[in-house]
Amino acid sequence: MGSGLILGIETSCDETAAAVVERGMRTLSSAVASQIPTHAPYGGVVPELASREHLRAIVPVVREALARAGVTLNELDAIAVTSGPGLAGALLVGITYAKALAFAQGIPLIAVNHLEGHIHAVLLREREERQGESEPENAPALALVVSGGHTHLYVARPAHGTWSYQLVGRTVDDAAGEAYDKVAKLLGLGYPGGPWIDALARFGNSQAVPFSFAQVKTKAHLAGKIPRTKAAKTAPIAELNPRFLFSFSGIKTAVLRYVELHGMRAEAEERAKHARRELRPPQTRAEALALCPQATLDLIASFQRAVVGDLLKKTFAAQEELGEARILVTGGVAANRELRERFASEAAARGVSVSFPTAALSTDNAAMIAAAGWPRFCAGEFAAQELTADPSLALGVG
Ligand code: KG4
Ligand code: ZN
Repeated sequence: MGSGLILGIETSCDETAAAVVERGMRTLSSAVASQIPTHAPYGGVVPELASREHLRAIVPVVREALARAGVTLNELDAIAVTSGPGLAGALLVGITYAKALAFAQGIPLIAVNHLEGHIHAVLLREREERQGESEPENAPALALVVSGGHTHLYVARPAHGTWSYQLVGRTVDDAAGEAYDKVAKLLGLGYPGGPWIDALARFGNSQAVPFSFAQVKTKAHLAGKIPRTKAAKTAPIAELNPRFLFSFSGIKTAVLRYVELHGMRAEAEERAKHARRELRPPQTRAEALALCPQATLDLIASFQRAVVGDLLKKTFAAQEELGEARILVTGGVAANRELRERFASEAAARGVSVSFPTAALSTDNAAMIAAAGWPRFCAGEFAAQELTADPSLALGVG
């Protein structure tokens, strides 16, 4: 084994990312080429455009990651790449390039599940903070992965040098980030919606609109559909405790109904004309009010309060029932200010610990993929040359 340098490559959705991480605990570089400007006019990711942009960006991004790390291809010990879940065409760009590089260099290729990557974004931060002081925290943890594509609860356990995962909860429909993006779109805000709603919610009254979440009823929800759906592979919903199931499609419809009932549609359409071209959400109350009337800010604040409240309630219900003393919250939505504050204060009140990734590692990146690849590298768990994209790759199931 050399110096433990792993090049991570991530292309599962709309970021082309590459990073060099040493021994799963020191980030030497993390380069991310965002496609936000490409997809923003559509208010969502367009898969064909994503593949095209990955093809364009993959070589310069890998080159940039190596240059910033001061590492040459010859010094790498392995290449870790996201093999799923994600967009098939997008995943293939990263996988094909990673395979070619690994083959040319004669080094192992490691397949990483994107969700496992998000969990390792938190573990990487913890290891970086502890460096040299003590052993990394290797206790089991309850992990909430909350992003644009996923809202999944896992118990992550260290097992023989690597990690094992058990799925304990998940959304039965939309992911929390998807609800943020859809609500932002219908309010005529920028894309992706999370950072906009995060910024604007601070200026609204979160008690103004009483949104509520009913407990998801598994049986009614499934109605015999599960074995036939594509999601079934990643979703043994019927076997999960209904108290740990999420559902975010209802609140999106409730916001839509509220907008229509209160005559806010024209205002949203007007806003959409310019807000979607803006890449930076308002930062001050004056800027927020220049974009949205107070009633809209109140709606935004109420939406966020409800979503974060539901994530909080179910995560801590699982924590209590499963008895985990440690919670990890990760994925794009984990960048949210209100979410971090409320999870931190609830955890403190219950005497459990909660950790998040750094802001940069909350959204998609390749440092988390390289970090997740390290224990697999040590265990000799390498991918075959036939490795291909698995858009519905599951984690912690069965
Ligand atoms: O992890 P990620 O980059 O990609 C997926 O794996 O999906 O997450 C992107 C999602 C988007 O839905 C985006 O709106 C949301 O994360 N997001 C946020 C924030 N920043 C990004 N949601 C709430 N608050 C934020 N500050
Ligand atoms: Zn992600």
